[in-house]
Amino acid sequence: MRRVLTEFDARRLLAGAPVVLVTTRWHGVANVMPVAWNMPLSHDPPLVGIAIHPSRHTYDMLRLSQEFALNVPSRRLMNHVQYLGTVSGRDVQKIEVAKLPTFKAQRVDAPLLEGCLAHVECSVEEVLHLGDHYLFVGKVLAAQAEREAFEEAWLLEDDDYKPLHYLGGELYAVLGERRQAHLRTSEEGSAELEETAEERERREEEEAHRQEQQEREER
Ligand SMILES: Cc1cc2nc3c(=O)[nH]c(=O)nc-3n(C[C@H](O)[C@H](O)[C@H](O)COP(=O)(O)O)c2cc1C
Repeated sequence: MRRVLTEFDARRLLAGAPVVLVTTRWHGVANVMPVAWNMPLSHDPPLVGIAIHPSRHTYDMLRLSQEFALNVPSRRLMNHVQYLGTVSGRDVQKIEVAKLPTFKAQRVDAPLLEGCLAHVECSVEEVLHLGDHYLFVGKVLAAQAEREAFEEAWLLEDDDYKPLHYLGGELYAVLGERRQAHLRTSEEGSAELEETAEERERREEEEAHRQEQQEREER
């Protein structure tokens, strides 16, 4: 049975990108805020987007410094993420209070956070006003990741080396196992969907179930 949702629930259905800690620095003062609404936008040039509400201190920091870094935390920093998303850099020096060690970025002034799995350094390329948020489009200037965590894709071998995903409220998740998809290649060289025995069995069972339900409703 399907559940009817409100249009505001759609954002949570789409939750699932790794949450990132956005660091900024302006006039020697650094700040950090978690951002769940982030996404890749272009392959070449490499562009990424972060949706930032104008009430955030980070919004001002981005406008002023025109650059930022994304730091991908693991579950080890989950409570830090929640804290950093609850207080504002306007009131608290969050990096110091949370005792987060930092290190120097390669291309931006914003600090990088130790203990995170990956780091992406960006310059602000464009800012788009969308609804009640602003999409800051960042051009990727440098990127690095922990070897145990990432090699071409997230490895997902060890829970402490998996990115953290935000589900909303105070809920987080980590991904389970990595799975490999398989397609068959036709004689002409195009990709074809190959149904496994298990998938066929499930499809036939579901078809029979749907048919049964329809017949019951017609009676
Ligand atoms: C896990 C998590 C994800 C969040 N994602 C976003 C987001 O994508 N965009 C946004 O504007 N605020 C987001 N927030 C809220 C900000 O992080 C929060 O308002 C923060 O305190 C702002 O900090 P600042 O004022 O120091 O910039 C998120 C909060 C949490 C806990």
